[in-house]
Amino acid sequence: MKKYVQKNVSDINLEDYVSEYEGKDALAEDLIFTGGRKRESLNGLWHYAVDQYEIAIRQHWFEERTHDADGRSLPVDFSFDEWPTMQLPCSWNMQDRMFFLYESSMVFTRKFSFIPDGDEKVYLRIGAANYLVRVFLNKQYVGMHRGGSTPMCFDITELLQRDNRIMLVCDATRRPEQVPTENTDWFNYGGIYRDIELFRVPKLFIRDFRIGLTPGKTLDRIHASVELSEKKSLTATLNLPSLGHEVQFEVKDGKGEVSFRLPNLQLWSPENPKLYPVTLEIPGDSVSDTVGFREIKAVGRDLFLNGKKLFLRGVSCHEDSVVNGKAVSREEAIQAILDAKEMGCNFMRLAHYPHHEQMARLADSLGILLWEEIPVYWAIRFRRPETYKDAENQLKELIRRDYNRASVIIWSVGNENADSDERLSFMRRLAQCAHRIDRTRLVSAACLVSFERNAIEDRLAEYLDVIGLNEYYGWYSPDFSKLPELFENSNPEKPVVISEFGADALYGHHGSKSDKGTEDCQCDVYEKQIATLREIPYVKGMAPWILYDFRCPRRTSVIQQYYNRKGLIAEDRKSRKGAYYLMQKFYEEKAREE
Ligand code: GCU
Repeated sequence: MKKYVQKNVSDINLEDYVSEYEGKDALAEDLIFTGGRKRESLNGLWHYAVDQYEIAIRQHWFEERTHDADGRSLPVDFSFDEWPTMQLPCSWNMQDRMFFLYESSMVFTRKFSFIPDGDEKVYLRIGAANYLVRVFLNKQYVGMHRGGSTPMCFDITELLQRDNRIMLVCDATRRPEQVPTENTDWFNYGGIYRDIELFRVPKLFIRDFRIGLTPGKTLDRIHASVELSEKKSLTATLNLPSLGHEVQFEVKDGKGEVSFRLPNLQLWSPENPKLYPVTLEIPGDSVSDTVGFREIKAVGRDLFLNGKKLFLRGVSCHEDSVVNGKAVSREEAIQAILDAKEMGCNFMRLAHYPHHEQMARLADSLGILLWEEIPVYWAIRFRRPETYKDAENQLKELIRRDYNRASVIIWSVGNENADSDERLSFMRRLAQCAHRIDRTRLVSAACLVSFERNAIEDRLAEYLDVIGLNEYYGWYSPDFSKLPELFENSNPEKPVVISEFGADALYGHHGSKSDKGTEDCQCDVYEKQIATLREIPYVKGMAPWILYDFRCPRRTSVIQQYYNRKGLIAEDRKSRKGAYYLMQKFYEEKAREE
């Protein structure tokens, strides 16, 4: 008893109660390829408790110490299976008004039975948890994941029993050293908000599988690579059944690749989103995917899709839903793509973090190009090596997750951070990392205008293929004459995509063009932006900010009511503002020019 009392007393005086959990981070290289694999879902009702003081990890609740060594019962501060339940995955903010603004820790737990099936390994995969989640299984600490929008995998083979208790401690706290920091322009939804699943794989399995069109002269060469779970050598078989093509290739010490020509290939494009089933087999394991083949490249100031000049008729989009928070439903994701396509878009900028993997799969099948981004957003601590590791890991997790998605053409390494030596070093490394991992896509970032010279000048541009540019002339920069002047002062050698412009407008609120917050003012800004941007030869795309109004705690005016109102459609995802139709008209004209 004395020992426990000491332990309990030490708990309350413990200063550093997290370091024992450090060092077991789930990283990009821990992810497993899941295409075509049987999924055992742990979605459903989980018991939960609000844990503002992080007692669950401070007091090791996961050990379920309810009796001392002599069998005497002990006072405990948890009742796992008597706690209320919450349907996971979800954003907890939307489940109960009490949790709407809650940004600390919540503990989730449930039991599940598991019947082993021979000589297998078992992985727990969580699609995303914001921001940091620690995983416990059968009284053991499994590991943790940082990063609020990318998947994680944990090998739980050795810990599984027939009857199991899993516990997830999710911490949504915003912190200056995280990616993003504590300062953003979107709502900080907390929780385990994407699927929670188990995957059984053989001892030797396909950990990663990548396939795509090899950029080059003839657009008929396919490149595929495989990474095994162990450094073994064997023969792998790749099959594209609808093309009647099967090829075998050697895998040596766990890695292998193959390249071959397929002359009768239909290339993927937004207009013709042709997808092919593909399977990859090794002795004892097989995976599958459905992929499109296309080439994206930047030459000089031009963009080319499958060798044809490309203008990105786009719109930006957050992962935000009035009803579901960041746990946007499949129906809402489909509607966002259809709303964009109806506006005449062939492109969406998924800001400012990796959206649900369903978005890229839907974009593949519905036909729209994507810019995907990691949240290297405002006030990043560029000097901190741990912060860089967090950012780079999120980038690697995103690329590993979506590599086979034809719709994804741009990896963005960040948004709107001021040029400094530390920022340049940090983001150059990220851009070089993206280029190293994926030679088939373009790398960009949403850069800032150089205000002192009113020019497109960002030292990061040297390391990018496409210069993203956020500019708010007519809104934050009221003097609109500065926009044409900006382009006169600039002479970029690469394609420029206007990754943001816009203005707030409350749907249905009207007044004069100078009345901020009216649709008339928003339309005036859009008319001037369109009239200027359409004349700039090196502007090869635009993604006005933003498709839908979205929740944002910093926006408190009577017009905003805690929403950022720059949407072309209100947060109800139905009410289209006048500027939506201005963009639609411009994009129709632009498409006719193609
Ligand atoms: C910035 C930023 C967005 C923000 C927008 C705005 O450019 O990138 O995240 O929401 O401006 O101020 O509305």
